[in-house]
Amino acid sequence: MKTLWHNCHAASMVGGRYSIIENAAILTDGPLIEWIGAAHAAPPADATQVDLGGAWVTPGLIDCHTHTVFGGNRSGEFEQRLQGVSYAEIAAAGGGIASTVRATRAATADELFASARRRLVSLLRDGVTTVEMKSGYGLDLANERKLLQVIRRLGEELPVTVRATCLAAHALPPEYAGQADAYIDHICTQMLPALAEEGLVDAVDAFCEYLAFSPEQVERLFKVAQGLDLPVKLHAEQLSSLHGSTLAARYHALSADHLEFMTEDDAQAMAAAGTVAVLLPGAFYFLRETQLPPMEALRKHGVQIAIASDLNPGTSPALSLRLMMNMACTLFRMTPEEALAGVTLHAATALGMQASHGSLEAGKHADFVAWDIDRPADLAYWLGGELNKRVVRHGALVSI
Ligand code: NIG
Ligand code: FE
Repeated sequence: MKTLWHNCHAASMVGGRYSIIENAAILTDGPLIEWIGAAHAAPPADATQVDLGGAWVTPGLIDCHTHTVFGGNRSGEFEQRLQGVSYAEIAAAGGGIASTVRATRAATADELFASARRRLVSLLRDGVTTVEMKSGYGLDLANERKLLQVIRRLGEELPVTVRATCLAAHALPPEYAGQADAYIDHICTQMLPALAEEGLVDAVDAFCEYLAFSPEQVERLFKVAQGLDLPVKLHAEQLSSLHGSTLAARYHALSADHLEFMTEDDAQAMAAAGTVAVLLPGAFYFLRETQLPPMEALRKHGVQIAIASDLNPGTSPALSLRLMMNMACTLFRMTPEEALAGVTLHAATALGMQASHGSLEAGKHADFVAWDIDRPADLAYWLGGELNKRVVRHGALVSI
């Protein structure tokens, strides 16, 4: 079944960068794009015609870093931080990630599914068609499994393509207090092999930070991931510089994420390895950070830059990826074109999905959004909110 989507313009992202086709048409065949180009050159085809009314078509947005599934919330800690208590101080006092772990362990899979579903629907209403979600609030085999199973179920029950990342090395669970090496061993020998065997893991992530895990501990985990044929990602240089991003590059990580404290050498290593820099302006904003990621070094060395919501209860309760595009522009001085490439093309690469997603090209998935906007920059201009649009996934209109 073919469809010709016409009377539109396309921000196609063809050629590995922001690029546009004015007066475009897109021919889809079932779930795939068969052809895209200038409307006057459209090939003759027996196709259903859909008039997009002059809309701008972008690839479906990709949120490549989220912690959507968790129990409880941490608005109380938000209030504490507004009184001047720091994120690190809250974590040291047993709050922070540990408090979400307690709430997540206490919640049933159905409860976690219901609350995550509501958050995910907000992201989808913003034009997201692919989302990555991490475990990391279970921190033992049964609870990490529970989270990863909920993540899989969200992908089955909602019109979105889901990638599941195992972030068992997010924080030290209370059972392993003072024994970080033993917990890493437990992940490496028990948790990860079991979860991978059950088909619940698409990638492996860790939190490399002075208040979480050291580069040496992360490297042990990466070696095991490599042995299981799983790609790796890393939360790195968010609060301090440990050169986790260089370590990630050595393991050909899909991405290193946060990166406010990275150095130019780190950027060079990431560029050489093709590791994407995932910037998370929501966490930067919400923690009222002042250290900006080194945009000039990233650009100079040609590191691909993605933008994501980091949706999580502690540092980025962000329910709009377009709001993150706006923040990437206002806070990190990215251009609206860079921000759009950051939630499409480069976000796809950050998930290892660049062959099938992230741009509008023949042979790729027909996942796109037709926005009723005047210019692509409008997507980064409005501060969240819902824009008029039509969302197409696997070649068919979806309603959320
Ligand atoms: O990406 N950096 C570590 N993980 C999350 C925060 C998680 C939390 O505070 O619950 C992040 O910012
Ligand atoms: Fe995160």
